Amino acid sequence: MWQSTVSLPLLSVLVLVAVRYWHHLGGFCRSVFSGGAGKGSGRRGAVQLTHSFVLMNSTHGQPDSVLQTFDLYAQTQPSLSIGKEKGEFVDCVVHRVAPTCALELGTHCGYTAIRILRRLPSSAKLYTVEQDPATAEAGEEMILVAGFKHSQFQMLISPSSAAIPRMRAELGVRAVGLVLMDHDVEQYLPDLQALEQEGLVSTGSVLLVNNTHAQGARDFLRYIHSNPRYSVHSQRHGMLEVQCQQGSIDGTR
Ligand SMILES: C[S@@+](CC[C@H](N)C(=O)[O-])C[C@H]1O[C@@H](n2cnc3c(N)ncnc32)[C@H](O)[C@@H]1O
Repeated sequence: MWQSTVSLPLLSVLVLVAVRYWHHLGGFCRSVFSGGAGKGSGRRGAVQLTHSFVLMNSTHGQPDSVLQTFDLYAQTQPSLSIGKEKGEFVDCVVHRVAPTCALELGTHCGYTAIRILRRLPSSAKLYTVEQDPATAEAGEEMILVAGFKHSQFQMLISPSSAAIPRMRAELGVRAVGLVLMDHDVEQYLPDLQALEQEGLVSTGSVLLVNNTHAQGARDFLRYIHSNPRYSVHSQRHGMLEVQCQQGSIDGTR
């Protein structure tokens, strides 16, 4: 009897705290699993659960339904997908920039790739980079399930540091109009510098950068703010839209 008297109020408090801090929990999980720290069974299990849920509960061939199912999953389970709020920001930027070539660093289960592909001009192409092979396979399947074709996107399964130098040399990419950085925050600066080195970012290119509040993104932010070639155009939910103002930046090509 005394147990139910004590445990019922305690249970209500726990539920209230869980509801109140759910997004913080999600953010915590994202930061743990998005970079190197998430290697292993925890992340793999999360990928499998998301993948199965979306596969079973969405209408295949309909990107909106696939995205809604990802969002539904994230309402009750911790998820690494960027989520609806930030996703809508991504939608706006992609629609406005209308790049002919987009690059995503950090595919995960394909949520943002699907959002980007939904808004890209019909002749445009998305390159999406994921370093974990099992995750990349799940992400690629989700993108195909949403109804997109290999002519519209290409999955690069490797660390971003290896994928970027391949883009011009092997894939013939000459410029990237939009880059979404949602991978390892410590890689943001070296990857931007590699994109500059390859001459892939130039006037009008836009960088959409997630988790800029993270400690590891400090060097990247310092670089952006101290470099007149970049200007922060907008910011929402810790996500930064950075515009590139001049012609090919320090490009060696
Ligand atoms: C937060 S998740 C990306 C979420 C995804 N953009 C979405 O919202 O659908 C980060 C992903 O980046 C991958 N990743 C981390 N560092 C990477 C790197 N250096 N190169 C490529 N992928 C990386 C992780 O394996 C993980 O799947």
